[in-house]
Amino acid sequence: MQEIMCRDEMQTKKFANNLATILKRGDIIVLSGDLGSGKTKFVEGILTHYGMQNQISSPTFTIVNEYHNDLIDVYHFDLYRLGDIYEFENIGGEEYFEKGLCIFEWGELIEDILPNDYIKITIDRGEDENSRKLTIETYRIKI
Ligand SMILES: Nc1ncnc2c1ncn2[C@@H]1O[C@H](COP(=O)(O)OP(=O)(O)OP(=O)(O)O)[C@@H](O)[C@H]1O
Ligand SMILES: [Mg+2]
Repeated sequence: MQEIMCRDEMQTKKFANNLATILKRGDIIVLSGDLGSGKTKFVEGILTHYGMQNQISSPTFTIVNEYHNDLIDVYHFDLYRLGDIYEFENIGGEEYFEKGLCIFEWGELIEDILPNDYIKITIDRGEDENSRKLTIETYRIKI
């Protein structure tokens, strides 16, 4: 587990941008944190690494937004309105795991069915309005 303090939005995006340099197809990121904590900003940082930041929109009315270029296919989910894990399975959610880089806002909802290997990033508010604590955990084996 690793904790990173970000004192503003730029630092959060920069961390996400750096993380993207080691991400590849098949990787899964779970983003957990309250409304307005910065999950979508984090995704923006990742997309910037691939030059896709101009296309970003929050998947408010759809569960998933897709971004494609020659480098990678990115699937950005927002599971906030998802009723339960079965709904995710019914829309064929699991088929996305291998298709590209999958990023799940409110991803803790589907943690039980994720492959063994994923990265979880929890965003907590800090003392100032613009500070956030990122807690990074990697899950490799499920017991
Ligand atoms: N250090 C920070 N990192 C990220 N965002 C920050 C930070 N400080 C302030 N903010 C602000 O917090 C807000 C985060 O919004 P964002 O849409 O990313 O949240 P979210 O977690 O995706 O919310 P939701 O659950 O509604 O999707 C933005 O307005 C952003 O400018
Ligand atoms: Mg969001």
